[in-house]
Amino acid sequence: MSVGLGTIRSAGRGVLVISLWALGATVAVTQESDDDVREGRALYDSHQCWQCHGYEGQGSVAGVRIAPTLYPYEAFARLVRHTNLMPAYSPNVLSEEQLRLIYAFVQSILEPPPLEDIPELDFE
Ligand code: HEC
Repeated sequence: MSVGLGTIRSAGRGVLVISLWALGATVAVTQESDDDVREGRALYDSHQCWQCHGYEGQGSVAGVRIAPTLYPYEAFARLVRHTNLMPAYSPNVLSEEQLRLIYAFVQSILEPPPLEDIPELDFE
């Protein structure tokens, strides 16, 4: 009888451990991508992207709108790495990892709501 009880207890603990582990893994993944976005924003600021593209990638007089982006990372990186109307950022100035973090930040910027859905802009 005591053997039976022991088996039930350890089975119960096993299930608990597994469910906590699964929860921990989910939290860790979300945490990491939030950190990427935060670091990406800091790099976007320190590498002066905002001067031409605006703080939210919305564009300005000097640079086009870059967020939200539909570009896959490779296309995004090519545009940043090669001189066009924008000064090129070489890997000496901006590492591959830093550019990936900036891309994570740009990707995190969502499409704004349509103008007609913003009550403050309804002047009727
Ligand atoms: C000195 C102003 C300036 C700065 C600083 C700058 N850009 Fe640009 N960027 C531009 C201009 C101008 C274009 C348009 C280039 C063209 O059409 O040939 C552009 C184009 C781009 C494009 C392509 C957009 C498209 O759809 O064609 C991306 C992506 C981009 N920039 C990302 C960045 C990132 C990331 C940074 C910071 C690491 C940055 N830019 C810093 C001026 C700037």
